Amino acid sequence: MAHQALEVMTATHHKTKPDPETLQFGKTFTDHMFIMDYSSENGWHSPRIIPYQPLTLDPAAMIYHYGQTVFEGLKAYRTDDDRILLFRPDENFKRLNRSSDRLSIPDIDEKMVLEYLSELLKLDKDWIPTYEGTSLYIRPFIIATEPNLSVAPSTTYKFMIILSPVGSYYKEGIAPVGIYVEDEYTRAALGGTGMAKTAGNYSAAYKAQDKATAHGQAQVLWLDSSEKKYVEEVGSMNVFFKIDGEIITPSLSGSILEGITRKSIIELLKSWGEQVTERRISIDEILNAVREGRLEEAFGTGTAAVISPIGELSWKGEKTLINQRETGSLSRKLYETLTGIQKGRIEDPLHWTY
Ligand code: COI
Repeated sequence: MAHQALEVMTATHHKTKPDPETLQFGKTFTDHMFIMDYSSENGWHSPRIIPYQPLTLDPAAMIYHYGQTVFEGLKAYRTDDDRILLFRPDENFKRLNRSSDRLSIPDIDEKMVLEYLSELLKLDKDWIPTYEGTSLYIRPFIIATEPNLSVAPSTTYKFMIILSPVGSYYKEGIAPVGIYVEDEYTRAALGGTGMAKTAGNYSAAYKAQDKATAHGQAQVLWLDSSEKKYVEEVGSMNVFFKIDGEIITPSLSGSILEGITRKSIIELLKSWGEQVTERRISIDEILNAVREGRLEEAFGTGTAAVISPIGELSWKGEKTLINQRETGSLSRKLYETLTGIQKGRIEDPLHWTY
């Protein structure tokens, strides 16, 4: 894509900002949004920042019928000395292109889109909350817009970025949550779309989430689709276990999302000299390790919640407590370090912030 001048139309009306102490996840949006269009003749074009507003789409737009769409999630933080920090945004736009490739969506220019995002953030800077535990969640996404019921890739798309001031993702904060090990539904299969951040992966998980809730648990632990034996993810997060001092996370098999928090944690742990292994790990191995007192902690990782400790596993009617339902020292250290780097409060040894 050739460099195209960004058009900026500022909002004349400024919305009231939500109370930072009672912020929820993803319910309020800032004054502006970024949008650009794609057509097979002109490629990506007309980048613009406009007042936040609804879209008008033809009811036959392909996004509504066959779900050709991808998204990303990252956060902006305002530091104590008033700088705006993003955490590894280049990784998000690279992953957006990998997801797009899987969904037959044309790729975007990662560097240019980061420049557009920076302009949007400068404009809506006052929406970045500074209250403890809060941040500005950034949601880039692409939708197929061609009005056409044929089952084929769209020839037109919209790429958009919307911004939402957020509090902690889980009401519980960094408190350990109970997990229901799901043995009926699966999240993704080999050769499917599990590695892509696409809408259907998330909506197809609601049914299992309902089951977890009915069993009194907060989230689902997903097992592999062929043997229902190996652990894949927890809720919409990657998962880690610490057994006998070794930190284990399922290897990226194609059905697991390549989390940027996951990748950062692996790099951080290695820089601390910890033993971290990416490999298959079965639910039996985990429960045996609990029984033998060798499982020290377990936690989920993602952009939204950062670290979410697992306090209990419910599997085939049996409940097993993990680390006496307490937040382990490794979970806490990782949470403090990652959020400290993200907020610009501690040194950034691996140069992750932008
Ligand atoms: C995350 O950031 O952990 C997620 O994937 C959840 C997000 C889709 C809200």
